[in-house]
Amino acid sequence: MNSAETASFWEANAEIWTQLVRAGYDVYRDGQNTPAFLAMLPPVAGLAGLDIGCGEGENTRRLARLGARMTAVDVAPTFIRYAQAAEAEELLGIDYRVADGLALPFADASFDFATAFMSLMDMPGHAQAIGEIGRVLRPGGFLQASILHPCFCPPYRKVLRDEDGAVRAIEVGRYFEATDGELESWCFRSMPEEQRSQFRPFQIPRFHRTLSGWLNLLPAAGLVLEELGEPTASDETVRAYPALRDTQAAPLFLHFRARKPAEPLAKFLSRDARIVQD
Ligand SMILES: C[S@@+](CC[C@H](N)C(=O)[O-])C[C@H]1O[C@@H](n2cnc3c(N)ncnc32)[C@H](O)[C@@H]1O
Repeated sequence: MNSAETASFWEANAEIWTQLVRAGYDVYRDGQNTPAFLAMLPPVAGLAGLDIGCGEGENTRRLARLGARMTAVDVAPTFIRYAQAAEAEELLGIDYRVADGLALPFADASFDFATAFMSLMDMPGHAQAIGEIGRVLRPGGFLQASILHPCFCPPYRKVLRDEDGAVRAIEVGRYFEATDGELESWCFRSMPEEQRSQFRPFQIPRFHRTLSGWLNLLPAAGLVLEELGEPTASDETVRAYPALRDTQAAPLFLHFRARKPAEPLAKFLSRDARIVQD
């Protein structure tokens, strides 16, 4: 599936998706994923940041409130329209644009950092997307991203429960299948059943890769892995968001931060080689 086809699925999801996330039904994002992501994020005050696949912009706004000068892109025009409307209501100086993460409309070395909250695994051509990020980062800049955990959320995933409903284990399969836009029919499970039946499920094209498939993209884009995160819910979080109990058995998300070295990698390597020789 190509990027334009993917974009048309997200555009079809965008209106209802925005309503539901703004009503608080994305409990994994609000209760776990974003707080853990921000806890891992280095200070961004005063930095120029690019948020890729920003959706309706909630996470971009959080970065702007931390003091970053934000630009944000998404392929779905409806998401960008809602994000721009939010900017008009709360002026944070965010420049939202409709653009494809596979062809970023920015000059080389334009940003101090880039973020991608749960968007890279939704794009065809991960190598190209991460290559584009490497291109627009200035030397010394970083990318921090969250994706569905490749090991615990491959195309087949089932939460196994005891008779009392307690989560016992996560069953996974099809790990080695690189999917190319396989459609997942899905809705926010925290919505009450009667409300759920009012909405057509979202159709989400999935582009699964293995863990090594993801991490090997970083050096190929000139980026050096700096930190990994695998959020799990505390008992307190589970009390507030019972749905998140499955992340105590195994993580649903993988976070990674990688940096574009201030000096080209080749220089580092040759200098290290000299040190070893000395
Ligand atoms: C799961 S949503 C995450 C939205 C937002 N980052 C958040 O955390 O709420 C994935 C987003 O990626 C966007 N997306 C998918 N393919 C894209 C592409 N090629 N370029 C830019 N954005 C893309 C979708 O339109 C959607 O808004």
